[in-house]
Amino acid sequence: MKKVTKVMLLIIIAVVGLVLSGCNQKDVNELEVIKKRGKLIVGTSPDYPPYEFIDVETGEVIGFDIEIAKEIAKDLGVELEIKEMSFNGLLAALTTGNVDIVLAGMTPTPERMESVDFSDIYYTAVQTVIVHADNKDTISSLDGLVGKQVGVQKGTIQAEIAAEIEGAKVKELGKITDLVMELKFKNIDALIVELPVAESYVKNNSDLYLTSITFEEVDGGSAVAVKKNSPELLTEINKTLKRLMDENLIDKFVTEATNKVNADEE
Ligand code: ARG
Repeated sequence: MKKVTKVMLLIIIAVVGLVLSGCNQKDVNELEVIKKRGKLIVGTSPDYPPYEFIDVETGEVIGFDIEIAKEIAKDLGVELEIKEMSFNGLLAALTTGNVDIVLAGMTPTPERMESVDFSDIYYTAVQTVIVHADNKDTISSLDGLVGKQVGVQKGTIQAEIAAEIEGAKVKELGKITDLVMELKFKNIDALIVELPVAESYVKNNSDLYLTSITFEEVDGGSAVAVKKNSPELLTEINKTLKRLMDENLIDKFVTEATNKVNADEE
């Protein structure tokens, strides 16, 4: 009986092993999955105008990243669904299959490339600093940030930049919208974001001021993140991006989204 149990156990282990190795070998073609489903699920963090933000009138997520997402879905011949989440939850959502791709003004970094793949860069912006208008004269250069509370969004490259500023105290929050409130209430002294985002918030909040501080050496390129090993999907996405860039549509989307941000002011 004991011997039989052992043999049985060995057989079970062998079968389970075979099944598992079979699963590993079976490549999931993300492109096919999306096409079969008839819907592309995009993850984003809509606190980043003009990239992605909430339309105050409709409550919908809009922005130039969303326009790009629409074009990708259109070229794939599928519907589009936008899933909102915190920026620092996006990559986990992608690797666990909660979303198909991420468009969130996300910059490809070596660290991120360990867990996901990126498309070609479709837009580039420099990093800059916004402050409360009352402090525009005290914080006009990097030195002005010494001893100050610098706000950054959790999990972003801005968080890495802030960590390098000597003497600055860094406050990380999940949402840019909360950081903007903190800045307005002077709970933080400065906020690092990409230039178009800084311009959007400053245009809509007369108590905020855009400094001339920039971190030019940090490449703020945006790319679409996809699950690792999805070459078919990646090729299709790059095709759409190329078409949009060739037709100057990305610039058009950026301008339109920026105007929309400003329109919310009235
Ligand atoms: N480009 C920066 C990064 O990749 C910030 C992106 C923040 N995006 C957002 N939707 N809040 O880290």
